[in-house]
Amino acid sequence: MKVIAFMTQKGGTGKTTLAASVGVAAQEAGERVFLIDLDPQGSLASWGERREAEEPAVDRISPDKLSSALIGLEQAGYTLVVIDTQGVDSPATSAAMRSADLALIPARASALDLEAARPTMAALSRLSRPYAFVLNQCSAGRTSRMQDAARALNLLGVLAMPFIVQRADHVDAIAFGIGVTEHDAHGKAADEIRQLWTWIKRKMEGKAHGQTSAVA
Ligand SMILES: Nc1ncnc2c1ncn2[C@@H]1O[C@H](COP(=O)(O)OP(=O)(O)O)[C@@H](O)[C@H]1O
Ligand SMILES: [Mg+2]
Repeated sequence: MKVIAFMTQKGGTGKTTLAASVGVAAQEAGERVFLIDLDPQGSLASWGERREAEEPAVDRISPDKLSSALIGLEQAGYTLVVIDTQGVDSPATSAAMRSADLALIPARASALDLEAARPTMAALSRLSRPYAFVLNQCSAGRTSRMQDAARALNLLGVLAMPFIVQRADHVDAIAFGIGVTEHDAHGKAADEIRQLWTWIKRKMEGKAHGQTSAVA
């Protein structure tokens, strides 16, 4: 069983949005997925309550129960756990860091998000946990601001591919309790999220690399 966790010490970067849609896309690709909401705000759990489909399962778990919960989930046959965290440094975020096979740090192409990613990255480095950035809420088309952000993230660490463009599909999917791949399976948002899941999976298998050349 693999564990991925979306984290960064900032709200609004897309942790919950990406956790939900990546979880659904992974399930569609054949994983048995459990989504854990470690954020006291409970946005991912609310998404799960709006959801009609029973899978992937979604639950809130208190941080001190995380490691025992993960053992139980592995025994129950889950193959992927996706953890959503709150946008501040907390015991929950530290617990998620320690458990994650791969931490994903969503950031928008803004100096504020890049700054906010640094302490998260430093904490992950101290714990020797692998991480990757996800450039989210990008404008469609290659703006220089986005390319600068991609270059900066590739210098700080590895940047997941592809960039996730700002699209209404993401906002609608969260509102309806679905993933973007269920909202419009043939849409661009769905395509990006499926590709992102493939990148994450390959990264955990040691086969994916940041693509500096894509932004050179
Ligand atoms: N790729 C995207 N396209 C459009 N809207 C997005 C995208 N990612 C996130 N959002 C929106 O940005 C806001 C913050 O996202 P959210 O997932 O709640 O962030 P976080 O969990 O990091 O606080 C929400 O309104 C969400 O709908
Ligand atoms: Mg959130």
